[in-house]
Amino acid sequence: MLMETERLIIRRFEKNDWKDLFEYLSQEAVVKYEPYDVYDEKSSIEEAAYRSQSDSFFAVCLKENNKLIGNVYFQQQEPKEFLTWEIGYVFNPDYYGQGYATEACKRVMKYGFEELGTHRIIGQCNPENTASWRLLERLSMRREGHFRKPVFFKKDNSGKPIWHDSYEYSILEEEFFTV
Ligand SMILES: CC(C)(COP(=O)(O)OP(=O)(O)OC[C@H]1O[C@@H](n2cnc3c(N)ncnc32)[C@H](O)[C@@H]1OP(=O)(O)O)[C@@H](O)C(=O)NCCC(=O)NCCS
Repeated sequence: MLMETERLIIRRFEKNDWKDLFEYLSQEAVVKYEPYDVYDEKSSIEEAAYRSQSDSFFAVCLKENNKLIGNVYFQQQEPKEFLTWEIGYVFNPDYYGQGYATEACKRVMKYGFEELGTHRIIGQCNPENTASWRLLERLSMRREGHFRKPVFFKKDNSGKPIWHDSYEYSILEEEFFTV
């Protein structure tokens, strides 16, 4: 499984990707809006091994030096006959602000629509995560809803859920090929 863009190679994870994964998943700011806490070396080794067996995670690497700079998540939703996939992304801050996430997500979306028979792609994020919804809008996805506190990822010190709002975005196959 290999995809190419102007500046990137997008491939399946390999076990020995764990160091690059650790480089960004170990940062508080990177996982702030994710449903997990920072990774240490041991959990990064386990995560790279898990992702190497998963169809849902793509490693995004720079063509110029093969450096793994982030990942795109692309997971089919249930029921499968609705042909809907969710897209997600986490990148290394050293590589923000250069359009790499946009370039990688566009390519994975094209793969979905052209190769997997995807009908609809959704993306969700916390409204406070401006970088995330700006990316969804650069991908020509449309904001369909602002849900009030439907979810929590983390708990406060007394064990209470920290509920947060969620934006939901989508794009349909017929829109992707006309934008
Ligand atoms: C979400 C995330 C991937 C966005 O990263 P990003 O660097 O803003 O996105 P891109 O790589 O697409 O870069 C876009 C930026 O590069 C600029 N840019 C430069 N060259 C560009 C190019 N060739 N093409 C597109 N944009 C380009 C854009 O103008 C934009 O900058 P701006 O936000 O100041 O307008 C990143 O913030 C992240 O990993 N966050 C932590 C994890 C996370 O929260 N994930 C989402 C959970 S819902």
